[in-house]
Amino acid sequence: MQAAKHIIAIASGKGGVGKSTTAVNLALALLSTGARVGLLDADIYGPSIALMLGVAEGTRPDTRDGKTLVPITAHGLASMSMAYLASDRTPMVWRGPMAGGALIQMLEQTDWGELDYLLIDMPPGTGDIQLTLSQKVTLSGAVIVTTPQDIALLDARKGIEMFTKVSVPVLGVIENMAMHTCSQCGHTESIFGADGGQRISTEYGVALLASLPLTRAIREHTDAGTPIVVSEPDSAAGQAYMAAAQTLARELGEQSASADFPTISISDD
Ligand SMILES: Nc1ncnc2c1ncn2[C@@H]1O[C@H](COP(=O)(O)OP(=O)(O)OP(=O)(O)O)[C@@H](O)[C@H]1O
Ligand SMILES: [Mg+2]
Ligand SMILES: [Zn+2]
Repeated sequence: MQAAKHIIAIASGKGGVGKSTTAVNLALALLSTGARVGLLDADIYGPSIALMLGVAEGTRPDTRDGKTLVPITAHGLASMSMAYLASDRTPMVWRGPMAGGALIQMLEQTDWGELDYLLIDMPPGTGDIQLTLSQKVTLSGAVIVTTPQDIALLDARKGIEMFTKVSVPVLGVIENMAMHTCSQCGHTESIFGADGGQRISTEYGVALLASLPLTRAIREHTDAGTPIVVSEPDSAAGQAYMAAAQTLARELGEQSASADFPTISISDD
């Protein structure tokens, strides 16, 4: 059984570039368009979406039948994470394959209901978990998050190539932590370099879905559990996430429409 019309992995080769921040804000942006959206935290070892969504520590999912888990809803978004299942004292000593198993289990045993989009916040890297997921789940595609830095771009390329190898379409690139505007004097600086997102998009012929600034507001709202898309939807960053969500939805609409066969209707009168 497929949990959603579209399952989308939010990934990058590199850690700390803003995958979770992007996943949470994109999910909430899609939700605000009226779509039914879920978010799965695939970071088994370092889950972060509970915090980012402001879900109180110790919140545990209900179960209706002892087999399936009811997702935790925050800001209207259905979510599931290892953070809801493992307590702080449970050591996360699981090995790679087991982590992959836990991820598929979380995906399949959550009672997502009918979703239009299920976003999966991937852990960093291009290892076992990423492969297990792309082999066991029919992904509509992946969104690659990168900073404009050369070292991040190198890892983003690895990510794009991994998904391409397993025939998962790359739906676009999100450049994060691009420009920074100084709060003192207002001058603008590219702390992690400039145009990296554009370069990699051009190189692989994929859309640059957004370029997010490096701002205190994104970080603070993320830490406070009130992502910028819901707390400051009209800010430049909020609007950038909204635009990215709309492009994504359009791309996926186009993708499924072009994959459809023409329907032949037969009437019996
Ligand atoms: N555009 C931004 N401006 C300022 N801070 C940001 C921005 N994007 C993310 N951050 C901050 O950077 C840190 C790392 O972000 P995040 O956890 O989303 O990265 P990640 O790629 O998911 O990391 P990991 O690889 O550990 O899963 C967080 O503290 C987050 O608040
Ligand atoms: Mg993360
Ligand atoms: Zn300055």
